[in-house]
Amino acid sequence: MSYNLLEGKKGIIFGALDENSIAWQTALRVHQEGGSFVLTNAPVAMRMGAIQQLADQTNAQVIPADATSIEDLNKLIDESMEILGGKLDFVLHSIGMSVNVRKGRAYTDQNHDWTSKGWDVSAVSFHKLMQTLYKKDAMNEWGSIVALSYMAAQRVFPDYNDMADNKAYLESIARSFGYFFGRDKKVRVNTISQSPTPTTAGKGVKGFDGFISYAEKMSPLGNATALDCANYTVSLFSDLTKRVTLQNLYNDGGFSNMGVSDAVMDLFEQQQSE
Ligand SMILES: NC(=O)c1ccc[n+]([C@@H]2O[C@H](COP(=O)([O-])OP(=O)(O)OC[C@H]3O[C@@H](n4cnc5c(N)ncnc54)[C@H](O)[C@@H]3O)[C@@H](O)[C@H]2O)c1
Repeated sequence: MSYNLLEGKKGIIFGALDENSIAWQTALRVHQEGGSFVLTNAPVAMRMGAIQQLADQTNAQVIPADATSIEDLNKLIDESMEILGGKLDFVLHSIGMSVNVRKGRAYTDQNHDWTSKGWDVSAVSFHKLMQTLYKKDAMNEWGSIVALSYMAAQRVFPDYNDMADNKAYLESIARSFGYFFGRDKKVRVNTISQSPTPTTAGKGVKGFDGFISYAEKMSPLGNATALDCANYTVSLFSDLTKRVTLQNLYNDGGFSNMGVSDAVMDLFEQQQSE
């Protein structure tokens, strides 16, 4: 289904690793809606090779860039504008990684060098990206920048570990930079707070299976999928949401406003009667 919502719009999509990636699904939907873009990912992710398949499907070019490197970001943005023939209308930051999560270190026993690395990749990279776009004046007026977050920024999910802090920081950067981008360039900046989603990053979190089924049972509409997130992002890139900015927007089937659901209560009642 296509509504031509992004006809003529140009942008950059970060973070498509494989077809489960939220960024992968977003690239497919943006392409269907008439948008054109450059795909980018960390050089190490390139070696896995899958991104070229997505590029072929969406007539996109791929430019490797480590999102923590200002040098890489400068090159990426210059080359993207050259390839796409002008300034950008949309950018998706779909990047997250915690070394502590990867290596199974508990929140109370972090290796703080790893904490810094994860913070740089998952949160500060968003500032670096926006600062580079801002300084180059690379965004068209009424352009839209989106990053992906998770509700652990607001509430405690113990196994989400230091990623919770990274997401809180990421959401704050969206607001702070969003002010300057709005005031000076008429560009909007938002984060989407997405349901647990079975991707490489998602499944890396300890207890992910329990996590995702709990959220499914708690949410009146069920968990939002990667495709749901892609659709929401398309709407935020489109001209239909021109004055939505500085927001953290929940795409979670209602989970974030729930206390308890019948489905979860039933499980506890069953347990008690056993
Ligand atoms: N999967 C979930 O449950 C879930 C829920 C809410 C939010 N999110 C967020 O969605 C975003 C996308 O994650 P995903 O779930 O699609 O997983 P994913 O593993 O498919 O994507 C994460 C991407 O980050 C990229 N990346 C890591 N380090 C990088 C670097 N230095 N430079 C550039 N790219 C780098 C990876 O190569 C990968 O493509 C992340 O911000 C994640 O935290 C995911």
